[in-house]
Amino acid sequence: MQLKNRVALVFGGARGMGRAIALRFAAEGCSSAIADVLDKEGEKTAADIKKAGKDAVYFHCDVTSSAGVKETVAKTIAKFKKLDIMVYCAGIGKPPKLINDISEQEYDSVVAVNMKGIFLCFQAIAPHMKANNYGKIVVISSLAGISPSPVAIHYAAAKAGALHVTSCFALEMAKYNVTVNSILPGMIRTDMTRDFAPPSIKDLDAFMGELAKGIPLKREGTVDDIAAAALFFASDESSYITADRLCVGGGMPNRGTP
Ligand SMILES: NC(=O)c1ccc[n+]([C@@H]2O[C@H](COP(=O)([O-])OP(=O)(O)OC[C@H]3O[C@@H](n4cnc5c(N)ncnc54)[C@H](O)[C@@H]3O)[C@@H](O)[C@H]2O)c1
Repeated sequence: MQLKNRVALVFGGARGMGRAIALRFAAEGCSSAIADVLDKEGEKTAADIKKAGKDAVYFHCDVTSSAGVKETVAKTIAKFKKLDIMVYCAGIGKPPKLINDISEQEYDSVVAVNMKGIFLCFQAIAPHMKANNYGKIVVISSLAGISPSPVAIHYAAAKAGALHVTSCFALEMAKYNVTVNSILPGMIRTDMTRDFAPPSIKDLDAFMGELAKGIPLKREGTVDDIAAAALFFASDESSYITADRLCVGGGMPNRGTP
């Protein structure tokens, strides 16, 4: 049990990677608060954690609302009397678009959920983790954050920003025994996969199969691949690693030989 008696708050934990992370944490002894805007899915994830034998609660929370995030952190601490781990998994993806096809509103919304929300969650949680002199924070960014794309300028920029927001915060928190790290997933099959695909794609499996041929490990990633990496950063196995990042992309990006 790598997370025995720990408590986690998973933003964006209703489905996809966030849900898989919360369930993997439960199997390792961790109770969780799930925060999301998808209430039905969030309640189900909380119920499934309880079925796995750990305590859980779902809170409706929009990560772009400073007040909502603060209230969610406060309610989590009120329920569990502590908070050891925070995971930021909230995100939105968009189909490929060139710059003049992206509205200002779309740009703002992508940056708000994929980057600004991280800052708001850090602000809300910092006082508690500083006072406790303990904390493990894991942020899901993306390989898009280190690989410029001509068809996702807002998403890639937000994910790059997410990496830096996370590393800057890690340096502030280091002296409080709080580690803060990023995971950069590659191509992981979730509900978001449909959002990333061009609308003209009718056969998503065939499309993904073709893309997977270009991945060194020759397969798409799964949410369990991400949960395993998140467990490492949430556990004390990673206690000497902070302000760092882990690519989980089956060999992508291919950095070549040194
Ligand atoms: N799927 C991929 O291939 C892939 C690759 C790289 C990075 N990512 C990133 O991984 C993270 C998880 O994505 P996923 O693939 O599991 O997709 P997903 O859509 O299944 O999960 C995203 C979650 O974020 C929640 N969310 C969205 N807006 C929110 C808001 N304003 N407030 C609170 N919650 C909100 C959604 O409701 C959902 O539960 C995202 O940050 C995504 O950008 C995904």
